[in-house]
Amino acid sequence: MDFMNKKAIVFGGTSGIGLASVKMLEKAGAEVVAIGRSSEKKSELPNGVKFVACDVRDEVGVEILLEKLAPFDILISSATGGKRAIGPFLEMDMDGFKGSFDKLWGYANVVRHGSKHLTDGGSITLVSGSPGRNCKFGQIALSSVGGAVEAMARAVAKEVSPRIRINIVSPGTINTPMVTLKGPDREKLYENMTKDNLIPRAGTADEVAEGIMFVVKNKFVTGTTVDVDGGWLIS
Ligand SMILES: NC(=O)c1ccc[n+]([C@@H]2O[C@H](COP(=O)([O-])OP(=O)(O)OC[C@H]3O[C@@H](n4cnc5c(N)ncnc54)[C@H](OP(=O)(O)O)[C@@H]3O)[C@@H](O)[C@H]2O)c1
Repeated sequence: MDFMNKKAIVFGGTSGIGLASVKMLEKAGAEVVAIGRSSEKKSELPNGVKFVACDVRDEVGVEILLEKLAPFDILISSATGGKRAIGPFLEMDMDGFKGSFDKLWGYANVVRHGSKHLTDGGSITLVSGSPGRNCKFGQIALSSVGGAVEAMARAVAKEVSPRIRINIVSPGTINTPMVTLKGPDREKLYENMTKDNLIPRAGTADEVAEGIMFVVKNKFVTGTTVDVDGGWLIS
């Protein structure tokens, strides 16, 4: 795919994986709009990239925004949505478990209200996470949501075919601002989280964005999940 004259909308585009995708798309020549809740995070966006504030959980807000931005060729969401619950399921606060699904509802808003505005041959890419298919201890909420995101994308792929494509990129442990620890504590956390993986280190946001660029570019890929996980799934 030639990115010149293509318009890309990236929810969660102001930090981490979304920001890395925004930078790659902009460098490749696309017109890019990055969306997040807080304008404080927009300072890292490349000069030509437009920022719009919107909470992906606000269905009406997402609908109105996408109508305004239409038409577009590339729609990506890596927006986390809200807080995610960590811990064993049987001891988990149910409100926390239910709240973890904000990511799914945000993605659902983007897909439902974005699909019709995509140009023919356009694509949607969502970001899930390795716990969706290989849950480690305490990750039941992440796993349930990740699995639901992937199932939704596969189901929607059939509805929107052949006009548009939808794919998932599933990261393992990635070093992004999602983790707020600094210095040695941060290093130790990533070391512990990845020590049993085939590639025992945290991935970079760029490595995940390369997976996103692949599914956006490759016109023969739909309803699939690309894992960028350091071997998490088989570790
Ligand atoms: N990092 C990892 O290790 C990892 C592993 C597996 C899966 N993932 C998934 O990858 C995706 C991106 O993660 P990341 O590490 O890049 O996170 P990040 O650095 O924290 O970036 C999250 C982005 O989403 C935006 N966002 C969050 N909630 C939003 C909402 N309700 N409405 C609109 N925008 C929202 C944030 O901006 P605002 O806060 O300003 O809204 C920010 O731009 C997430 O879906 C995450 O679950 C990450």
